[in-house]
Amino acid sequence: MRENPDYAARYGKWAMVIGGSYGLGEALARELARRGMNLVITARGQDKLDAAAARLRADFGVETKTIAADLSDPGILDVMLSGLGGTPVDFLIYNAALEHGGEFIVQDVERHLANIQVNCVAPTILVHHFARGMAERGRGGIVISSSLGGAQGLYAWASYGASKSYENLLGQALWYELKPKGVDATTFMIGSTYTPSFQRNQKLRQTPFAETRTPEGLPEGAQVPQDPEEAAANLFARLDGEWPPMVYANPRDEENANRMAALSLAERITLTSDAVRKSFEAAPGAKRGEPQLM
Ligand SMILES: NC(=O)c1ccc[n+]([C@@H]2O[C@H](COP(=O)([O-])OP(=O)(O)OC[C@H]3O[C@@H](n4cnc5c(N)ncnc54)[C@H](OP(=O)(O)O)[C@@H]3O)[C@@H](O)[C@H]2O)c1
Repeated sequence: MRENPDYAARYGKWAMVIGGSYGLGEALARELARRGMNLVITARGQDKLDAAAARLRADFGVETKTIAADLSDPGILDVMLSGLGGTPVDFLIYNAALEHGGEFIVQDVERHLANIQVNCVAPTILVHHFARGMAERGRGGIVISSSLGGAQGLYAWASYGASKSYENLLGQALWYELKPKGVDATTFMIGSTYTPSFQRNQKLRQTPFAETRTPEGLPEGAQVPQDPEEAAANLFARLDGEWPPMVYANPRDEENANRMAALSLAERITLTSDAVRKSFEAAPGAKRGEPQLM
């Protein structure tokens, strides 16, 4: 079996995963611990943070810190710095996201602004701060979680998709800007992944994935969401080598994206949006575009 590279030697001792207490974020933290890094994990809920940190210490023998913080807090940088108490951040993953969905003009504008705060404003502030420190030290790693929902305009996810598109381009630009300063950066392009948040959303719409990742009798062509552990392992299999500007969480998503690139933009938006619209319309008791989802 291939030995995991020593990220502590490559980047420094401490990694921080923002949104690292369960689901994909926990799986990403565990890949970093497997590679020898101590972990700072952040989320809103302290209980889940404590449980995930205990698993990291027991399974990998690493040191951990937890920071309970809400990314919608405009003072988020001060909260994080106070929680860190001087611990440097040598590797940063911005994983958490807000996913308020629903038709753009039907939803209150506050929901769109909340998406922008958590998915655009907070990552800008935090990545900017910690990337400067890494550049000064001449080494570091930065991963920004984006979404296939940000690859083109998408029904019911106008502001969520736009915010994930922002994160996509942020990671790609930093890949270019920070490389000469010794800092690796990339965008993590994620499709359907069976996290607790994903499952919660499926329950709201009562889709076939509400109870299980692998329901029987799926229509032909329907894809099963991947496991968070598989997505995280796919990311780090790429990052162990030379970093590309973007990494797909699943090779299947990369193939789909390449196929879609042959279509016109109007065809891509219509194809993907029609599928989402149908699943919203099928939500129990839903008026078109109105369910207060996510
Ligand atoms: N799952 C999918 O199918 C999918 C598809 C495409 C893209 N993505 C992207 O993948 C990333 C992770 O996805 P996921 O939603 O499935 O989540 P996840 O990684 O399973 O969990 C979300 C993490 O973020 C924390 N969090 C959520 N909202 C927060 C807030 N406002 N402030 C601070 N922490 C917060 C959660 O803890 P608390 O709840 O305790 O705060 C948890 O630790 C996101 O960037 C998402 O856009 C996911």
